[in-house]
Amino acid sequence: MYQQTIPWKPNYDERKIPPYSLPPLMTCLDGTPVRTQQDWREKRRPELLALFRQWLYGDFAPLPDETRCTVVSEKKDARGGSAIRREIRMEFRMKNEKSHSVVMLLYFPVSASETNKVPVFAGLAFGGNQVATVEPDIMHTGFQGRNDDPFFAPGAQARRYPVGDILKRGYGLALASYDDFFPDSPDKWDQSIYRLFYPEEKLKTRLKGHSAIGAWAWGLSRMADALENVPEIDASKMACYGQSRLGKASLWAGANDERFKLVCVNCSGCGGAALNRRLYGETLYSMFVHSGLGRYWFNDPLEAVAETPSLLPVEQHELIALAAPRRIAVHSATLDQWADPKSEFLSAFYAGPAFRLFGKEPLPDSTPPPPDTAVGSDISYYLRTGAHDLLPADWSHYMNMADGVFRKQVK
Ligand code: GCU
Repeated sequence: MYQQTIPWKPNYDERKIPPYSLPPLMTCLDGTPVRTQQDWREKRRPELLALFRQWLYGDFAPLPDETRCTVVSEKKDARGGSAIRREIRMEFRMKNEKSHSVVMLLYFPVSASETNKVPVFAGLAFGGNQVATVEPDIMHTGFQGRNDDPFFAPGAQARRYPVGDILKRGYGLALASYDDFFPDSPDKWDQSIYRLFYPEEKLKTRLKGHSAIGAWAWGLSRMADALENVPEIDASKMACYGQSRLGKASLWAGANDERFKLVCVNCSGCGGAALNRRLYGETLYSMFVHSGLGRYWFNDPLEAVAETPSLLPVEQHELIALAAPRRIAVHSATLDQWADPKSEFLSAFYAGPAFRLFGKEPLPDSTPPPPDTAVGSDISYYLRTGAHDLLPADWSHYMNMADGVFRKQVK
């Protein structure tokens, strides 16, 4: 474990970024180039996934022995009659009687039906489901016992969920509290989904081989399982989304789970879309010595290389590349220098060759676009003016990206 001798300070000066080079995306570990789609699918993609598991996010937890989905509430005239709202309990059960439940909130347009299915955005929320909308009769989920905290009050984060716009554009919106998959704290392994798979003694301290981000990404995949069973949802048209640490989770979920045909990654920063080697704003090292978040957000081997990310055999552009040939939208915010917007852009740019291999469009230019101007179609980058947040302007671009893939035939 690092002992901090000199207090860590973020660098915000481009001139102080040490020179770095990226591991070559299109060369396999054994030195052979990736020339064909088959090389990518059968060799490079699996080896990159294995490296990201080993070094950053840990193994994806297995499927529970059984998942039972129960509709615990339905409102047919939600949001002034424009939406159907359901709360769906996902109960993960193991043969040894262990179980873990999470309630997902789902909205979709009233016009949706079994013969008129709609695409859906699935994501995790800070706080509980109730924070997303001002409707007063939503179950409080996540952070049980902290319901008097204004951060978790009904509608407290409604600005992040323009439900009306999403419905108007013909999409469903699903969300669940990230806290219900892994409470965001270093000592809560025994309250996370990992308790389904490991004995209690192993969960008293940090569980080797797994991470909190891994649990959140797993949660997104379980939401996708549940959505596959909602008759009004077109499960061939699912997007995942997430803000900040949940953007990191969305990126990791999208890399693993190819049912997400569009991956939306908002202000994800360090350990998300930002390049580890750029050393601007938050760094992996700071996550270990400064905030301590690294000690449970990531897999344990990361700690040994966090100070010298050039030792990592992977870089974050390769994580973005794992979305290929599906679509991915990487968003930053001008005031979010902590997350290093330029680096988030560069990652998306350097992921280009994997998309090109499938006849998809890489980002056209190595220079970031001006604020509020989206670039790219299969990989897209958008820098919103403003602070670290998920806002209607972000959603508007995510839905443009979704229109491009879901309103046409998915290739
Ligand atoms: C902190 C953390 C970031 C993270 C952010 C968030 O700022 O350092 O890595 O993305 O929290 O999740 O809001």
